[in-house]
Amino acid sequence: MAVGKIIIAGNWKMHKTQAEALEFLTVLKSNVEETDEAREIVLCVPFTALSILSKSLHGGKVRLGAQNVHWEDQGAYTGEISGPMLTELGVDYVVIGHSERRQYFGETDETANLRVITAQRHGLTPILCVGETKQQRDAGEAESVIINQLQKGLVDVDQSKLVIAYEPIWAIGTGDTCDAEEANRIIKVIREQLSNQKVTIQYGGSVKPNNIDEIMKQSDIDGALVGGASLDPVNFARIVNYQ
Ligand code: PGA
Repeated sequence: MAVGKIIIAGNWKMHKTQAEALEFLTVLKSNVEETDEAREIVLCVPFTALSILSKSLHGGKVRLGAQNVHWEDQGAYTGEISGPMLTELGVDYVVIGHSERRQYFGETDETANLRVITAQRHGLTPILCVGETKQQRDAGEAESVIINQLQKGLVDVDQSKLVIAYEPIWAIGTGDTCDAEEANRIIKVIREQLSNQKVTIQYGGSVKPNNIDEIMKQSDIDGALVGGASLDPVNFARIVNYQ
């Protein structure tokens, strides 16, 4: 049903060489020719695949996303990528504050906030990820954790150019999807925190061809952020073409 614009994004994480990326795109394109124009398709790929994919997209249906952006435009920040480096390649979206960045690379709500603001300054649409751990959920803290992540992550952020992904950490890469109705309930809680009710709020965490229809049937879920199942172009196309 959806409240905001429908956006289905693949998050390839650290997968695919340039050659593999091109092969993927060829198959994906042939499977999304009939896809409703109202559904935005985004591929969030490693930095090394951005350039070649950008050349092959030619303003077609599929949009390009990166998986991070630094808050400075340039400088001594080994291993980081800046906004101008991404926009030069035709990138439109950028994933920020993914739980893997928070867990393995020490990112915080404060750095996520800086990255979101910077993305917007360069005309990129940030996809800000929030979500609770299993332990937090079991302790009944899911809502408070998420509200806190939003309050800190959205300081001074323009909500007219923003996507939020609700990704319960226990559902990421585990095959253990959050029940669609429960995801919808949390997404409503997220929406209550926003000043712009039209922000696209995605669900992420073990989204697959066999559960996407149920997920997209929910009243408040505006799309999906898809990890593992976005690596196969036929599977990803089936998710994009949910019924
Ligand atoms: P998954 O990953 O679909 O493999 O669970 C989702 C994500 O991390 O964005």
